[in-house]
Amino acid sequence: MTKEGGVDAVDASPANRAHDWWRQAVVYQIYPRSFADANGDGLGDLPGITSRVDYLQQLGIDAVWLSPFYPSALADGGYDVDDYRDVDPRLGTLTDFDSMVTALHTAGIRVIVDIVPNHSSNRHRWFRDAIASPPGSPERARYIFREGRGPNGALPPSDWPSHFAPSAWTRTSNPDGSLGQWYLHLFAPEQPDFNWDNREVQLDFLTTLRFWADRGVDGFRIDVAHALKKDLTEPFRSRPKLTDMVNPLAGNDELFDRDDVHEIYREWRQVFNEYSPPRMAVAEAWVEPARRPLYARADELGQAFNFDLLESEWDAAEYRAIITDNLTMARDAETSSTWVLSNHDVVRHPSRYGLRSGTDLKKWLLGDGAIPPVDRAMGLRRARAATMLILALPGSTYLYQGEELGLFEVSDIPHDRIQDPVWTRMSGAEKGRDGCRVPLPWTPERPAFGFSPVDAHLPQPDWFAELSVQTQDSMAGSTLDLYRRALALRRQWQSTETLEWQHTTNNRVLHFVRPNGFASVTTFNRTTYSLPSGRVLLSSGALDGSRIPPNTTVWLAPET
Ligand code: NOJ
Repeated sequence: MTKEGGVDAVDASPANRAHDWWRQAVVYQIYPRSFADANGDGLGDLPGITSRVDYLQQLGIDAVWLSPFYPSALADGGYDVDDYRDVDPRLGTLTDFDSMVTALHTAGIRVIVDIVPNHSSNRHRWFRDAIASPPGSPERARYIFREGRGPNGALPPSDWPSHFAPSAWTRTSNPDGSLGQWYLHLFAPEQPDFNWDNREVQLDFLTTLRFWADRGVDGFRIDVAHALKKDLTEPFRSRPKLTDMVNPLAGNDELFDRDDVHEIYREWRQVFNEYSPPRMAVAEAWVEPARRPLYARADELGQAFNFDLLESEWDAAEYRAIITDNLTMARDAETSSTWVLSNHDVVRHPSRYGLRSGTDLKKWLLGDGAIPPVDRAMGLRRARAATMLILALPGSTYLYQGEELGLFEVSDIPHDRIQDPVWTRMSGAEKGRDGCRVPLPWTPERPAFGFSPVDAHLPQPDWFAELSVQTQDSMAGSTLDLYRRALALRRQWQSTETLEWQHTTNNRVLHFVRPNGFASVTTFNRTTYSLPSGRVLLSSGALDGSRIPPNTTVWLAPET
C-alpha cells in the first residue's frame, strides 16, 4: 500500500477551519447569465441567484464562485470587463450583490468572485482614454501600444497570435482618421491587455480586491493568472503559435508563466491577509503541471486549478497518475489540490465520457457526421462515477452549474445564435463554448424550463425537460439526488488530507482509503469487481449483488 497526500496534521479546530475553509471545500461555479433570471429578460441575474439560495443550500456546497457579473458588452461572455467595481445593470445593482452575499452567508455558503486582470474591455474608461490620447501618453502606458513594422507601420509589431486568432495586435485609428499605433490583446480585440509594469494598473487592482473583500467576498478566482507579465523588450521574440500547456523557456517565456508574474501575487497576498479570515484565491493557470504549485504558494494565491482531469480519458491508470502527482505537488507547496471535471470553457463531462476515446471535441461540436454520437447512458454512468471519485479525494472540488443534473453539452446551437467570439474569430472553424453555458432547466416547461418567463438568451433543447431540477428533485437515484447525498456524506468524511491506495486484483479498479477509514472504489471500463469489506454508503449506479458493475464508484464505511 502506498500513501499519498498532504498535510498529516491538519488542525481541525473551528478557528483553523474558518481560516483554511477552502482547503477541502466544495465550490459550485455559477455562470450568472445562465443560472436564474429574476427580472424576466431572458438573461440570468443576481436576484435570480438569491432566489435559488435554498437550492444551493440543499445541494450541500461550501461556496459559490461567480463568473463575471460586471458591466460588459459580452464580447467574451463577461470576461471583457468595463468596470471592475460595479454590477452589469442587466444583472442587478451593487445592492442586489450585497443582498445575495447576505443570503448566501446566512445559508453558510461562501462567495468567490472572478477577477480578470490580464485585460479589460475596450469600453473600460482607461482604454477609451488611451485611444483618445497620443502615443507616449500616460493614458496609453496603462495598456500595450506599439508602432507597427514595415512601411507606414502596416504590419503588426510582432507575429504573436491571439487565443481567438489570428493576430494578438489590432491597429487603432487616430482622431483625424489616419491609421495609428497597434495594441496587444491575447484574447479578442475587445479585450486589450493591461501593462502590468505600470504602477497605476497594479494599484487599481489592489483597490478592486479590497472593494469586493470589503463587501464580504471570501475569495477570488484569478483569470489567466499566468499571462499578466510579458517580455516587451524590442525587437519582440517571434511566437507564431500559442502553446498553453508547454513552457519551453521555463519562467522566461515571452507571454506566459513568466517568473516575474509572481511579484504581482505576492503583493495581492498582503491585501488578502489584511482580512480575517484571510481572503482565499485560486489561480486559473494553464501551465505545465509542475509549474502550477508556484501560483499556489502560501505567500501568493494559495491555490491553483488542476485541470488534468479535464484533459484526461476515463482511464484508471491516467486517473491514478493524475491523483498521485497532484497530491504530491500540493503537499510540497503546502496547499491542497483542486479537482475539476467541468467548467464554462470545456465540453461537459457526461458528453466527453460518452464519446469514443480520443474523439476530437472541436470536430464533434462542428457536427462532423463521421464521429459516432454521444452514448448518453454510458457518458452519464461514467460521469457519476467520476464525480463520486473526485469527491472522495483530499482537496477541494469545483463543480460547474448543471453537472448536478447530469446535463450534457448542447452541441446543436444554431450558428446564428452562437455568442462565443471563438466562432466568428475563427471564421466558423471552431464552434466555441456556448454548449456548456445554456441556461439551467429548473422545471420541465417551456418557454425556458423555469429559468425565465421568456425565451432564454441561448436556446435550450427539448431534452432539458427530463433533466430539470423539478423532475429530479424527489426522484431517488437521480443525478441530483446522487450529488446531494454525496455532498452530505462528504461533510462527514472530512479527514486529514491523505489517502492510502489499496491493492486491487484488477488494474482497471481504483481503491483508496482515507485516514478515518472511509473508502472509495471505482471500476472503469469493462470491469466488474467484488465489493471489498465495509458498509456501503453510496453507489453511483446500481450494484449487482456483491459485484460492482463497470463504470461505478462505491463509498464504504468501516464495518462497525
Ligand atoms: C479564461 C476564461 O475562463 C475564459 O472564459 C475567457 O475567455 C478567458 N480566460 C479570457 O478572459
